[in-house]
Amino acid sequence: MNQQPIALILAAGKGTRFKSKTIKILHPLLGQPMIFYVLDTVKKLGTNDILVVVGYQKEKVMSALKEREVQFVIQDQQLGTAHAVMAAQAALRPFLERDLLVVNGDLPLLRPESLQPLLEFHQRERNALTFVTALMDNPFGFGRVIEVSKGKYRVVEEREASPEQKKIKEANVGLYLFRIKDLFGALPKVSNNNSKQEFYLTDLIEILSQQGKKVRPFSLPAKDEIVGVNDRYELAQALRVLQIRKNKSLAQLGVTIIDPETTWIDIGVEVGEETIIYPGVVIEGKSKVGKDCRLESFAVIRDSILKDDVHVLASSVVEGSILESQTKVGPFTHLRAGSHLRKGAKVGNFVEMKKTEFGPESKAMHLSYLGDSKIGRQVNIGAGTITCNYDGLKKHETQIEDEVFIGSGTQLVAPVKIGRGAYVGAGSTITKNVSPEALAVARGRQVEKLGWARRKRKKR
Ligand code: UD1
Ligand code: CA
Repeated sequence: MNQQPIALILAAGKGTRFKSKTIKILHPLLGQPMIFYVLDTVKKLGTNDILVVVGYQKEKVMSALKEREVQFVIQDQQLGTAHAVMAAQAALRPFLERDLLVVNGDLPLLRPESLQPLLEFHQRERNALTFVTALMDNPFGFGRVIEVSKGKYRVVEEREASPEQKKIKEANVGLYLFRIKDLFGALPKVSNNNSKQEFYLTDLIEILSQQGKKVRPFSLPAKDEIVGVNDRYELAQALRVLQIRKNKSLAQLGVTIIDPETTWIDIGVEVGEETIIYPGVVIEGKSKVGKDCRLESFAVIRDSILKDDVHVLASSVVEGSILESQTKVGPFTHLRAGSHLRKGAKVGNFVEMKKTEFGPESKAMHLSYLGDSKIGRQVNIGAGTITCNYDGLKKHETQIEDEVFIGSGTQLVAPVKIGRGAYVGAGSTITKNVSPEALAVARGRQVEKLGWARRKRKKR
């Protein structure tokens, strides 16, 4: 009996109240689908046998979970939460002596440490069914717990509840521990004789009570874990809780987050100690930020690696890029996929970069577009430099070797190469390779007509 329970996660329902093309449990929270949170919690409880009931958009769900060690159970028609459990009966039949932890797939905030006492309680009390409850200020939408007589319970769904019952504050959380043998004895008794014509899992509470089995509520004190995410507003509420948890955990690791309520850091993002994050920063996806960095307001970092001592000034967007240590970016810089800033490089306002290797200590401080380029060390890119990388059909590469100086307002028509140490005069349109150490000037010569303006004015 002291074996860990088998877990059954209910994830077959569409999530009608989401009004979404995508099944509810695949909606992301801090960059991770809702169902992953439930899975991780169950896993951290020490449960290794995990079944997931899938139905609506089952291919999508199975593909999202393909890396996870779970077994799928298919519920072709979604006829209710008890019906979902019925779908798992065949898979569970060999394990009659074990316990089954049934979890709604839309409870992403549950924490393993809160559930551990539940397992202990269930096993110590030798219950046939333990169902998790919580006292809520506003239990709207939840099933309400009624103690019919001493030790006998039932749960009435919001839709079925009388006005009196709706006043009950004790709600059913959507998390249950069954002794499988007793579950099997009661499941055939569940009917769909209710307003939704669904088979309610909650009916088992009453059925098992009536069968004289030991059914007990287990009250979960942690209020911030019990948001059942049924619509997009509840999604936002759950997101808020996860946001604060994430920011708190980073703060405890030594990261300064000035305003945790306006800072959005995806669950999988790592940030090193002594890094300072200003209000309004967003760090998403597979990003990693090193130590001693400073990310100023409204920086958006997505799928990017920032090494140590990187400084991102306000309103910069960094996507799919690598910023080596001591680099500085912004304000208003846009680094697109494949940008790689080498150590000590600086990129300033209104510079856009794409698929560009930007060498150590090189600078592009103002108003430039650098695409498909390889730029060496200590290069200076003047204001308004443009790599003309696209001929309407194909992209071409620009190569700029070490210590080159590109004057302001230059266009580099790719494919083109500027040799080491060369200078390009301001305002040039460079269409041919430039030799190392040369000066290239490619612009109309200046002409001057003395007195021209005075004569023109006199004519008027
Ligand atoms: C359920 C409970 C309610 C509880 C609430 C807590 C029932 C009848 N009611 O209501 O007492 O307060 O959770 O959040 O169980 N699912 C399937 N197959 C189905 C139907 C649902 O797999 O046929 C899955 C859904 O994908 C979801 C979970 O079961 O993950 C719960 O379903 P949902 O419709 O959200 O139940 P609630 O109405 O919230
Ligand atoms: Ca729900």
